[in-house]
Amino acid sequence: MKLAVVKETLAGELRVAATPETVGKLIALGHELRIQKGAGQAAGYLDEAYKAAGASIATSATKALEGADLVLKVRGPTEKEAAALPEGISLVGLLDPFTADMAPLNARKVTALAMEFTPRITRAQSMDALSSQSNLAGYRAMIEAASIYGRALPMMMTAAGTVAPAKVFVMGAGVAGLQAIATARRLGAVVSATDVRPAAKEQVASLGAKFIAVEDEEFKAAETAGGYAKQMSEEYQAKQAALVAEHISKQDIVITTALIPGRLAPVLVSEDMVKSMKPGSVIIDMAVSQGGNCPLSKPDEIVDVGGVKVAGFTNLPARLPADSSALYAKNLLSFLPLITGEEAALSLETEDEIVTAMLLTRAGETVNERVKK
Ligand code: NAI
Repeated sequence: MKLAVVKETLAGELRVAATPETVGKLIALGHELRIQKGAGQAAGYLDEAYKAAGASIATSATKALEGADLVLKVRGPTEKEAAALPEGISLVGLLDPFTADMAPLNARKVTALAMEFTPRITRAQSMDALSSQSNLAGYRAMIEAASIYGRALPMMMTAAGTVAPAKVFVMGAGVAGLQAIATARRLGAVVSATDVRPAAKEQVASLGAKFIAVEDEEFKAAETAGGYAKQMSEEYQAKQAALVAEHISKQDIVITTALIPGRLAPVLVSEDMVKSMKPGSVIIDMAVSQGGNCPLSKPDEIVDVGGVKVAGFTNLPARLPADSSALYAKNLLSFLPLITGEEAALSLETEDEIVTAMLLTRAGETVNERVKK
């Protein structure tokens, strides 16, 4: 296969879809790879290293894409990027399938595969980019919170007095939330967490955090076969809000991670709850791109609400671009054999459920059932 890697052009996107390590492995598998000059620089991967791994360096995105079968990207193409794609090229990336407009891709007859739609089956675990990126995002959210917070996290008993440990509450204990909990624990905070999926209870406890949730019949049935949360009823949300309102007022740091695939994020921290917190407290809204778990959060801003700092980061993985690129590039490396036929040629004629689930557009049409719905 002739592979192309281009520099990401979205503002603040510092990740890259291949690292020198994965380039070396892709070339050993029989592929050719052309990478745009400087594509990995922001993540700490330099052209010389790609060259040493066997890639050729292209002076522009257009030159990298010329004659390529497949382009490896981190983010879905901007309109400008899409317009520059050679007709009929294949593309794999985090394409934001529920919200992105497929028209520019269809206009170029692009065969697009969305990494977000990697099914959650054991065989696909090494390809699961949502997990690899969420894990790092959860860690980074806690680090950002610690840096915004004007106090220390662990308890310190010094000759000059005692510093009380910070109380951290994590809302949503999926991949990101669990890593935020683990990081907060390592930093010495007193940690609690909530989720609507019953399976989360044990995982939270195993990390040494306290679980806080309304555990009624709806809660016991609130998980889909894919392991995702279901949309909860208004009654449940009201009961849960009442329970957490009291809890939040006593917290120093709240990290919200709650998402429902294909829907706006549920509102979990109301304006009143924010105002109930002590000045100096910090809220990190990890769902800010999907509407936010807190109505006061704004994308990539730190909003001061009576001394409470509400921060919304839209791209936490890009704040550790070396690791997030390395893991994402490995996800792609694990995926590519599924679309590789004889003599390392691109082959999309497959019944593989992983490929079928990820296929978004083909020959000018949107073919994905989840997106069409
Ligand atoms: P996510 O990113 O879709 O959502 C984050 C968390 O928010 C989830 O835990 C969800 O239950 C929670 N949430 C949603 N609405 C909420 C509400 N109203 N209040 C509180 N919490 C709410 O979830 P993520 O991180 O993708 O993980 C979901 C599950 O899938 C986890 O159990 C994870 O371990 C599992 N998983 C399984 C994989 C596999 O089998 N290959 C791979 C990755 C994750």
